[in-house]
Amino acid sequence: MAQLLYIESSPRKERSVSIRVAKTFTEEYLKTHPNDSVETIDLWSNEFPPFNGDTINAKYALLHGEEHSEEQIRAWKPVEILIDNFKKADKYLISLPMWNFGIPYKLKHYIDILVQPGYTFSFSPDEGYKGLVTGKPATVVYARGGAYQAGPEGLDLQKAYMELVLGFIGFTEIKSIVAEPMLMATPEEKKKIIQSAEEQARTIAAAF
Ligand SMILES: Cc1cc2nc3c(=O)[nH]c(=O)nc-3n(C[C@H](O)[C@H](O)[C@H](O)COP(=O)(O)O)c2cc1C
Repeated sequence: MAQLLYIESSPRKERSVSIRVAKTFTEEYLKTHPNDSVETIDLWSNEFPPFNGDTINAKYALLHGEEHSEEQIRAWKPVEILIDNFKKADKYLISLPMWNFGIPYKLKHYIDILVQPGYTFSFSPDEGYKGLVTGKPATVVYARGGAYQAGPEGLDLQKAYMELVLGFIGFTEIKSIVAEPMLMATPEEKKKIIQSAEEQARTIAAAF
C-alpha cells in the first residue's frame, strides 16, 4: 500500500485552478489505486517553524559536522519531523499558483525546511551534491495568470525553480501539468484549459 503525499499551495481553495486539477488527480488516483492512501498538506492551514537564527545555526552545525547546542536541538526537532513526514511518502503531488513569476511564499518556507544536508541532500568533495529522495515519482500542477510556455524565455521562475529544487533533492521522474493563461483567457477558453489539464491529471494519475 503506497502513500501519495499531496502538497497544496494555493489559498484560494474552491476558486483555485491548481487545486481543482490536483483534486481531479487524487480522485482518479484513489479510483485506480484503491489500496493506496493520500495525505494532504495544506500549506495555508499549517504553521511551520520559522527558519530563524537558531534553525540556520543548526543547519550550519550539521554542514560543519558540529554538535547541536540546546537551542539548536529545540529549533531542529520540528524541522526533522516535517522532513521525516515528507520522506516517508512513496509518491508526490504538488499544486501551486505562480506568484510574481515564482512560487507562493508558503511553499518556499516549506522547501526551506525540507532541503537539509544529510536528510534530503548530501555533499562530499568527491561526489559534490547528491539528492537523497530517490526512486520516487512526482507530479507538479502549475497555474498561471499569463502564458509562459510559448516564451518569452526566462520569465517562468515557477516551473524552473520547482524542477531545480526537486532535482536537487533527488527527483528524476517529474511530470508537469500547466494551466495557463488563467487571467487572460475568456470564460470559454478557461473552461477548455481546465478540462485539458484535468484530462492530463487523470491520465498521469492512473499510471502513477
Ligand atoms: C500574489 C499573486 C501574484 C501573481 N503573480 C503572477 C505572475 O507573476 N504571473 C502570472 O502569470 N500570474 C500571476 N498571478 C496569477 C495567478 O498565477 C493565477 O491567477 C493562477 O491561476 C492562480 O492559481 P490558483 O487559482 O491555483 O490560486 C498572481 C496571483 C497572485 C494572487
